[in-house]
Amino acid sequence: MPLVSMTEMLKKAKSGKYAVGQFNMNNLEFLQAIVEASEEENSPVILGVSEGALKYMGLDYTVALAKTAADNSNIPIALHLDHGSTFDISMKVIHGGFSSVMFDGSHHPYEENVEITKKIVETAHAMGISVEGELGTIGGTEDDISVDEENARLADPKEAIRFYKETNVDALAIAVGSAHGMYIGEPKLHYEIIEAVSKEIDIPLVLHGGSGIPDESVKKAISLGIGKVNVNTENQIVMTNTIREIFAKNQNVYDPRKYLGPARDAIKEVVRGKIRLFGSNGKA
Ligand code: 13P
Repeated sequence: MPLVSMTEMLKKAKSGKYAVGQFNMNNLEFLQAIVEASEEENSPVILGVSEGALKYMGLDYTVALAKTAADNSNIPIALHLDHGSTFDISMKVIHGGFSSVMFDGSHHPYEENVEITKKIVETAHAMGISVEGELGTIGGTEDDISVDEENARLADPKEAIRFYKETNVDALAIAVGSAHGMYIGEPKLHYEIIEAVSKEIDIPLVLHGGSGIPDESVKKAISLGIGKVNVNTENQIVMTNTIREIFAKNQNVYDPRKYLGPARDAIKEVVRGKIRLFGSNGKA
């Protein structure tokens, strides 16, 4: 089927009390691993592409790869811009063939974040494309965006509810204590924020920084209203570790397929585990 927006799959996730995974796509092997695992688990899936990954792969290649995967598949697949930083980049990917965008205006003052998000929602919805907004500042490092602990700011529940009503986004990322990248120590999620916001809005909340959060914490967050969980770093680590192990055993390997193939299989198993943890298996 063609690429789809996140709207339907996330509505179902909210009412069914499970979450759909956003797995970041960094190259062909990531795409194949994510889609194969999702197909085998009969799960809807969101392919997240950061601005950095977009620069690395190129817009045309990214869309062509994702479209090919979707056209050859029976599960719903969304191609989603992760942490879009401007109105212009959002428009560029929408017109380039993405089926969903995130506008991360969390570094702007509230009113400005609302204004830009609203403008993107108007255009995107007219074209059947979904939009994720962000409120509060998520800590950690992703691509070129780095937020240290001091500057990470939890979302204010009242402001988050107001933000949803003013923008009409399809999914809302709120800072609840998770961070991009791996954690030193155990992350402390603020479940009370998730609960307070989720019961007042119709759309699911998004948990960024899904790598390294203990399974029980993820499950609890989903039970309280998280309907989309983003994962990138764990897949990057398992890919790199697999390749390192292959080279540690044999320095003479030179055919990339001999290390990228096993790395792809390793990513696939991480994705499969997350899909089962999020409860989206069997929900395509
Ligand atoms: P991790 O890299 O921590 O899994 O976070 C991914 C993410 O939130 C992408 O937006």
